[in-house]
Amino acid sequence: MNFTRKKLNMVVVGAGMYACGRGTKEYGTIIPAILEWKKKGSLGEVYVVGTSSKNIRISKNKIKKLEKYTGIKAPLTYFPQNRTNDLQCYKKAIRMVPKPAVCIIAVPDNLHSRIASEAIKAGVHTFVVKPLAPTVKEVLKLVSAGKRKGVYCAVDFHKRFDRANIKLKDTILQNVIGDPLYFLAEYSQRKSIPHKRFRKWVKNTNIFQYLGIHYLDIIYFVTGATPKRAMATGQKGWLFSKGINTYDSIEAHIEWETSSGKKFTSHILTNWIDPESTSAMSDQKIKVIGTKGRFESDQKRRGITIVTDEKGIEEPNPYFCSAYGKDGAASYRGYGIESIHQFLEDVMQITEYRLSIEELEDKRPTFKQSLVLTATLEAVNKSLKNNNQWVRVGSVKQYD
Ligand SMILES: NC(=O)c1ccc[n+]([C@@H]2O[C@H](COP(=O)([O-])OP(=O)(O)OC[C@H]3O[C@@H](n4cnc5c(N)ncnc54)[C@H](O)[C@@H]3O)[C@@H](O)[C@H]2O)c1
Repeated sequence: MNFTRKKLNMVVVGAGMYACGRGTKEYGTIIPAILEWKKKGSLGEVYVVGTSSKNIRISKNKIKKLEKYTGIKAPLTYFPQNRTNDLQCYKKAIRMVPKPAVCIIAVPDNLHSRIASEAIKAGVHTFVVKPLAPTVKEVLKLVSAGKRKGVYCAVDFHKRFDRANIKLKDTILQNVIGDPLYFLAEYSQRKSIPHKRFRKWVKNTNIFQYLGIHYLDIIYFVTGATPKRAMATGQKGWLFSKGINTYDSIEAHIEWETSSGKKFTSHILTNWIDPESTSAMSDQKIKVIGTKGRFESDQKRRGITIVTDEKGIEEPNPYFCSAYGKDGAASYRGYGIESIHQFLEDVMQITEYRLSIEELEDKRPTFKQSLVLTATLEAVNKSLKNNNQWVRVGSVKQYD
């Protein structure tokens, strides 16, 4: 590239576990990705937004340690700046950020659409962690607002960047295993996630919405098929006994149809009450049975086992978001980082008039692509409420 690129400014709304690893020993994914992005030479100002000066101070200290660890300093401004509590200060940050700018949103699920619509209204390109929003009504509003304002909007479905899932897509596209008959995906995390980390907002999500949506998106991404109807069952046990009225586990059964009229089923089994002693944060796997063969991918066991006196047996996934190199010069790599960098690079090219938002519609997890997933999520949630009945998934054609 033989021209100087503009600097891209950023607002990160939410400074918790995913943004900077607050409450964990790690540093999350979003801020590490932004520090890595700085190496490309096109990082402008970064505003990091929380809800209270006390919490933002904790995040600030965490990010300072990360800057030391990576040896990369970023031009960061923190909000709220002076008041003790300010749930609305994201509005000020979004208004103040110089253009071109992006807004990266990593707050509890029920707040995604409210904050995204504020960013879109201000003409800021918007990236939201999954799930985009729990209702089709919210997603529809966001899609049309984005179109009206001409801003690019995408969802952080980072599993699309995992080589194992890209291999799965190619295997299906090249007809290696024939027509899919059924998919089986299992995804679970440790019980401290709902019990401790998300305790304040766990009632605003559920385990299918938090984890199941990832594999729902992967099945959509690798087959291009349309979900037709859904049925879900769920169990309340351990969390309920701790005073948290949410499902420990949810199993969603979904029927799909391909563009050539072929049908298959997916079974997505999720829980968030794994023992704390499990060897990895996420236990995740996907299997597809086709008419000519099968594809199986254990996405927890990536072939590494570390055993220590201190931590027992650990099976890390080095492909998601891992730091490499020594203290003071560590660098982050993985599909979690790639997903954020892809969004930032797309925005750069849009602002340089080298790429149009329309061109990205079929290629990326855009807000419009999320309509079909949110419609399925709604059907799953409806089935859970209505005695586990089969529920039709609303057609996405009607949203065009
Ligand atoms: N933790 C992960 O590995 C992970 C991965 C992918 C996606 N996500 C998604 O990211 C989102 C946040 O998850 P998390 O793990 O970071 O949770 P978290 O509870 O650690 O952090 C959420 C943060 O949002 C902040 N917040 C709440 N209301 C706000 C407001 N009005 N303005 C600014 N900040 C506000 C909270 O103070 C908190 O710091 C969720 O939707 C989750 O599904 C998390």
